[in-house]
Amino acid sequence: MVDHASLSGKRVLLVIAGGIAAYKSLDLIRRLRERGVGVRAVLTEAGARFVTPLSVQALTEDTVYRDLWSLTDESEMGHIRLSREADLIVVAPATANLLARMAAGMADDLAATVLLATDKPVLVAPAMNVRMWEHPATQDNMARLERRGVRRVGPNEGVMACNEFGPGRMAEPMEIIDAIATHFADAAHKPQAHTPLSGKRALVTSGPTHEPIDPVRYIANRSSGKQGHAIAEALARLGAAVTLVSGPTRLPDPPGCAVVAIETAREMLAACEAALPVDIAVCAAAVADWRVAGTSDRKLKKDGGGPPSLSLTENPDILATLSQAGPRRPALVIGFAAETGDVVAYATAKRARKGCDWIVANDVSLGTTTFGGADNTVHVIRADGAEAWPTMGKDAVGARLAEAIAAHFHPPAP
Ligand code: PMT
Repeated sequence: MVDHASLSGKRVLLVIAGGIAAYKSLDLIRRLRERGVGVRAVLTEAGARFVTPLSVQALTEDTVYRDLWSLTDESEMGHIRLSREADLIVVAPATANLLARMAAGMADDLAATVLLATDKPVLVAPAMNVRMWEHPATQDNMARLERRGVRRVGPNEGVMACNEFGPGRMAEPMEIIDAIATHFADAAHKPQAHTPLSGKRALVTSGPTHEPIDPVRYIANRSSGKQGHAIAEALARLGAAVTLVSGPTRLPDPPGCAVVAIETAREMLAACEAALPVDIAVCAAAVADWRVAGTSDRKLKKDGGGPPSLSLTENPDILATLSQAGPRRPALVIGFAAETGDVVAYATAKRARKGCDWIVANDVSLGTTTFGGADNTVHVIRADGAEAWPTMGKDAVGARLAEAIAAHFHPPAP
């Protein structure tokens, strides 16, 4: 016996597609309402051939939404709002056609559009002829949807309206209600995602820059991007919308981040400026301070006249640019300092010189593996002093820095 207590007060958006089983959806609405569930319905064009909009409206005691192009419906309740206001979307009956359109990500009627636009969980109750259900196309579509997290109840086996026997009958209303109750009970026991940075936008720079000498040669450094990428991933995990601007690395794109690949410091600056406005900027990239002035567009030749002399010119300072006061300055700008001695003293001076809020100092002297290695030992320097962190994996440094950033925006109550 599934406990239905979790159902009271929940809101379900019921999508009724076109199948003979649609008549059971009327009973489903009635039984859900008896259990205190608010039901709003979307009826497809084919669905309206099996049940009348009037019956659905009478049972839900609400408008029945049918047309993507209805100005009245859109002004009263836009399809995006419709897709987001429910706690759960239930598709019953879910026909082969609607499952295929969902799997393909189509938005060719109100039902499909709502299902594509939603950020809410979806439960489907398939109903169709047994051959249609067993067809590899339907099985592939269903498997694809389940991989994306769509839940399923049924179909049941039995004699069908077309007199064939096998799986394809829509689950009974009480079975669908059990599946809905199970979903809500599971959701109540799932630990809530910890997303203190949701609604915040973050920009992270990572990796080295490559500054060209000629078409085949460049000046670079040993940055692997591990530290910057770990910070970007950790910020995204805490709910921030992250743009990662990265020089050339061998790393995969961190999940949940928009990645902009660049090569030179000037490209990095342009990509960072394009990402503004942001709330948080973390500059972990090892940007070349200098580039070659007047690069050759032909390969420099070894022509017996001795090595060419390269003259260097200064690159723009991205951290200092982002730190400049003004309406586009991120609320929190964090730089890194790669030092080879007197780490805290030099980094403290660098924080003041660049105008950033915090600076994360790390020792990159010979013998350390800060560049390219898996671990990092950092000091975090703020206006009120320096905090030494123990040696940790770069992922752990990223996670701890992201938590410190979250605490900055949501300081604990005194
Ligand atoms: O990539 P990994 O292999 O994981 O290594 C990580 C790291 C050592 C590269 C990283 O932890 C780090 O220290 N990054 C900053 C390296 C650096 O260039 O430090 P810096 O002291 O030269 O620069 C100070 C700050 O100014 C940095 O935030 C840097 O991104 C920024 N800067 C520097 C020059 C420039 N033209 N523009 C900048 O924005």
